[in-house]
Amino acid sequence: KTGYFTFDPGFMATASCESKITFIDGDKGELLHRGYPIDQLATQSNFLEVAYLLLNGELPNKDEYATFERNITRHTMLHEQLTKFFTGFRRDAHPMAVMVGVVGAMSAFYHDSTDINDPAHRMIASHRLIAKVPTIAAMAYKYSVGQPFVYPRNDLGYAENFLHMMFSVPCETYEVNPVLAKAMDRILILHADHEQNASTSTVRLAGSSGANPFACIAAGIACLWGPAHGGANEAVIKMLEEIGSADRIGEFVKRAKDKDDPFRLMGFGHRVYKNFDPRATIMRQTCHEVLGELGIKDEPLLDIAMKLEKIALEDEYFVERKLYPNVDFYSGIILRAMGIPTSLFTVLFAVARTVGWVAQWKEMIEDPTQKIGRPRQLYTGAAARDYVAINAR
Ligand code: SDX
Repeated sequence: KTGYFTFDPGFMATASCESKITFIDGDKGELLHRGYPIDQLATQSNFLEVAYLLLNGELPNKDEYATFERNITRHTMLHEQLTKFFTGFRRDAHPMAVMVGVVGAMSAFYHDSTDINDPAHRMIASHRLIAKVPTIAAMAYKYSVGQPFVYPRNDLGYAENFLHMMFSVPCETYEVNPVLAKAMDRILILHADHEQNASTSTVRLAGSSGANPFACIAAGIACLWGPAHGGANEAVIKMLEEIGSADRIGEFVKRAKDKDDPFRLMGFGHRVYKNFDPRATIMRQTCHEVLGELGIKDEPLLDIAMKLEKIALEDEYFVERKLYPNVDFYSGIILRAMGIPTSLFTVLFAVARTVGWVAQWKEMIEDPTQKIGRPRQLYTGAAARDYVAINAR
């Protein structure tokens, strides 16, 4: 609804692109996907339905959903040659390095058969990426723990299949707890898209040159890895473990406010939200649901996180700067309770955000006015001057 908000000219001057996919009101703490509020999607929809919505602009009817789900399910297996890429990595390689490498390598398998100007090819590439990233993520985990790869199953839902591929072993199938599968599905929804964040902008810039979508998504994964962006969920757990007990929270809050100390409260603050990140609120609720389902009564990291949040929200430094918990503050506690290793947290963020990256890439390619991205700069270097031979310097 264009009347929904008013563009201020200054904003337009800095806006990097126009998009119909996601709207964020940072002051209100509002997040809409194609007009639907994130809290309604996270509690009433499912990840594949949200993926369809982001890609196509409307919620699917039953037939459209069944076709989309089948197209994704039937692309979840990896080309057997692609599975050989994992053995080139050391077992202790960070799984995000593996994701960048193997997703990038997909371009070697599908580049020749993907004409980005053909809508059918764009849709197949979208299906392949959305379908295969959970398989690649689970394989990265299996490789790191020395267990055999577990193939996807076509009778399982998207989140269930991921948990199956992560935790089943040839000698014993992992029984997926439906409450955990639902929580995983909701976590994927909460990370699916977020307007023009750093990694999405990376994908758009790479795609604007006409690069194939597999290479563009690999570029997005690389950008997401940073601790200021998607790597924050892993950094939050390390921070909470370093704090170690509630009586040390004050020490770390003090450090976060000290300009001479590079330490920042991980999972706090946001480039856009100057109010609660609506995803953090849903994530906190989901955290309590999962710990309750697993019968975990006293998770020390949750206790520290909740006390830290309370103290920070009452501290004038954070209040003045409108620093609130973001999507990464509670997600790691849930994932850790599910048995997902910390090193996989950002990988999971990448699995979910692949849907947003693909939707944004597709929207850009389908825009007949789009040109190659070319950010300008404010030059602050030396004025023009003549060369001086080395013996005269
Ligand atoms: C994601 O863009 C997206 O949409 C990203 C994302 C997505 O879905 O794609 O939402 C995912 O990346 C969430 C953010 C995850 N990162 C973290 O949690 C890392 C910790 N947070 C920060 O490093 C920081 O808040 C950023 C990087 C998120 C934003 O950094 P900015 O732009 O510098 O923050 P700001 O402009 O709002 O800062 C204003 C002030 C500054 O102090 P002053 O210079 O005014 O004195 O607040 C300070 C900052 O130093 N500040 C913090 C802080 N975050 C900002 N101080 C202490 N701890 C923090 N976490």
